[in-house]
Amino acid sequence: MSKRVLYVIACGAPPARDVGRLVRLAQDSGWQVCVLVSPSGRRFADIPGLEEATGYPVRTEYKNPGEPDVLPPPDAVIVAPATVNTINKWAAGICDTLPLGILVEAIGKRLPIVAMPFTNREHAAHPAFPENIAKLRSWGVIVLFGPEVYPLHDPGPAAVTWTCSHGRRQPKPSMCGRWRPELRALIQRNDAARACLR
Ligand SMILES: Cc1cc2nc3c(=O)[nH]c(=O)nc-3n(C[C@H](O)[C@H](O)[C@H](O)COP(=O)(O)O)c2cc1C
Repeated sequence: MSKRVLYVIACGAPPARDVGRLVRLAQDSGWQVCVLVSPSGRRFADIPGLEEATGYPVRTEYKNPGEPDVLPPPDAVIVAPATVNTINKWAAGICDTLPLGILVEAIGKRLPIVAMPFTNREHAAHPAFPENIAKLRSWGVIVLFGPEVYPLHDPGPAAVTWTCSHGRRQPKPSMCGRWRPELRALIQRNDAARACLR
């Protein structure tokens, strides 16, 4: 039986440097993983390393008309780190990058989606940001954000790393029926998308 496909989307924030750890966690949980990186995310992510780890090209741009799709279609999507920019545009339905197009489409397809926004205290305080997180949650997106996930830092460089912490967050009951068991297990363990400041 072919493995279920997880799209991991990394945006332009420092945890994108270590998104390979998320890829390995998902692969260890039985997922076939494809990585997409936003244009700004490319300055952080280790593109050759991610391509070697997944066996797929790391996509950023929309393909040209008539070109074959090089990635299998996703069964689930994780966007981590998700920038303020991507959260706000996603909630507005904007598709001006391939990762945003995939995210907007994933809501339309009612795919299981996990988002882990990463930002500083001042960006997070803009009123649009909490409103858009609430919108995304109301549409069924599991948004890992809040003091129980990681404490917000002041503007400026932050030392960031991925961790395999074992949180207790439970999925919304209404989502459970649609989740593939592997994704449910991944999220319940909170290994899926969780960053901590050290
Ligand atoms: C060094 C650096 C660090 C950044 N860190 C963050 C961050 O932690 N969170 C965030 O939301 N944006 C951060 N940004 C800004 C985003 O990269 C910028 O808003 C970009 O347009 C996001 O594009 P994307 O959403 O398509 O990835 C950072 C930018 C730079 C250059």
